[in-house]
Amino acid sequence: MKTLIAYGTKYGTTRKVAEVISQRLPGEVDLVDLKEEKDPDVCAYDAILIGASVYGGNIQREVRSFFDHQKENLVSKPYGIFIAAGNNLEVERNYRVYVGKTIYDHAEIKEYIGYSYDFTKMNFFEKTMIKKVAKVTENIEKLDEEGINNVVQWVKEVEGRLSKPITDKTAEH
Ligand SMILES: Cc1cc2nc3c(=O)[nH]c(=O)nc-3n(C[C@H](O)[C@H](O)[C@H](O)COP(=O)(O)O)c2cc1C
Repeated sequence: MKTLIAYGTKYGTTRKVAEVISQRLPGEVDLVDLKEEKDPDVCAYDAILIGASVYGGNIQREVRSFFDHQKENLVSKPYGIFIAAGNNLEVERNYRVYVGKTIYDHAEIKEYIGYSYDFTKMNFFEKTMIKKVAKVTENIEKLDEEGINNVVQWVKEVEGRLSKPITDKTAEH
């Protein structure tokens, strides 16, 4: 079982969750920051997870361009999508509207993984905006355990699907 977790992140929430997920998965897991490696080959994996975070109403450019390049390959593979955002409605809006209906519809799971706000990493304008719009004034982390568990569970289900034919074949002999 080989899983790819490809993600975009600005301040690290999505990376942190991707790492947490990777530690709980069976088999081999490759973690790829799409800013550093733009186009990992999804064909080399049994399951693919793509994560992103929302800034100013959209996900990272490198994540959108990964979908553009890998769209054909992805739709024939089991893949899931997840998102870090202040608003839990952002999964659908960002992936269905901005990445595309085909990618959104074919994803086997679509999970919200929570958010964090770290004022030490924000610039002056970001701090002002977050205080005003999100009404948050100090560092906070609210990861969504249910969403994270669903992602882990889904990869285990894919693993079960993959191992089934081998088990059946063994049983025949
Ligand atoms: C400047 C700024 C803009 C943001 N814009 C949005 C937004 O438009 N919608 C939203 O749901 N969350 C928004 N967020 C919340 C982020 O998605 C959240 O902080 C997330 O945890 C960031 O993940 P990352 O560290 O992996 O980039 C914003 C956060 C910041 C600091």
